[in-house]
Amino acid sequence: MSTSGAAALSSRTQCSTVLDLRQHLWAVESAGGLVGFVPTMGYLHAGHSSLIRAAATDCDVVVVSIFVNPLQFAPTEDLSAYPRDLDRDLELIGEAGAVADRVIVFTPTVGEMYPSPVLTQVVVGGLSDTMEGASRPTHFSGVATVVAKLFSIVGPCRAYFGEKDFQQLAVIRRMASDLSMPVDVIGCPIVRETDGLALSSRNVYLSANERNGAPVLRAALDEGMRLIESGTATAEDVRNAMAELIRTEPSAVLDYVEITDPQTLEPIEHVSGEVRLFVAATFGRARLIDNCGATPER
Ligand code: PAJ
Repeated sequence: MSTSGAAALSSRTQCSTVLDLRQHLWAVESAGGLVGFVPTMGYLHAGHSSLIRAAATDCDVVVVSIFVNPLQFAPTEDLSAYPRDLDRDLELIGEAGAVADRVIVFTPTVGEMYPSPVLTQVVVGGLSDTMEGASRPTHFSGVATVVAKLFSIVGPCRAYFGEKDFQQLAVIRRMASDLSMPVDVIGCPIVRETDGLALSSRNVYLSANERNGAPVLRAALDEGMRLIESGTATAEDVRNAMAELIRTEPSAVLDYVEITDPQTLEPIEHVSGEVRLFVAATFGRARLIDNCGATPER
């Protein structure tokens, strides 16, 4: 890693307009700096920090965007309730210590991102239609549209996404490839609480009782993985065992359990190689998702 890009920044920088961000990045790029990009909706936690650290390890300068994107929320969803705390977010980014002086935090307003009604939307067919896309039909076009816009604002970069949102990662990767975007999309491992619950900004919605029950998602994934590794090849048997386990938790309302090809995300009926297991359930106000990989032992 060179220090050429970082030299263009004296301390952590915050920009809220597209022009201001572009001006900072022109300076970085003309100094030959490699830009890392971590898009977020804020209310940051250790999962987001892991992406920032990965970007800081590989790149000279890291852009972290904080923008709660209205396009990806359906009218019935939690846009207005979505947790926000910019001061805490800036502190958490600061706590990344060594990287703080190489981070640009981009905090646009809704008016800055969408100055006029959005007539152009990005739709990634197929990959967006199942699982999260089936439960939230407009979600992925909202995600793909904002991420395409952010990629276009940030320019050539390496962009870091969590495997926590594995389907989102696949959608973004495919969009960047299909549209020849000058962006390397990098997937990063899921960060979990010690009891296995995947970190999520939405965990804050959980009551004490729901929080106690939520690790059942991880338990169901573990059970699915165990069955596959020990030779259960019929996906329906694995899905049923996982769903049954989730139904034992009174605070959980199961949305889906799915087993797919890890690349195409097509559902699989007979497990013969590497697969991806997915679960989604609602606990009170919190809709939580999780996933993991599994490969049968040969
Ligand atoms: P958000 O939910 O804030 O997540 C931002 C990034 O953090 C995503 O890439 C997500 O997968 C990653 N992340 C969240 N929890 C994680 C965990 N426990 N471990 C590892 N990574 C984790 O995803 C979005 O925002 C939005 O859809 C966005 C891409 C920013 C577009 O608006």
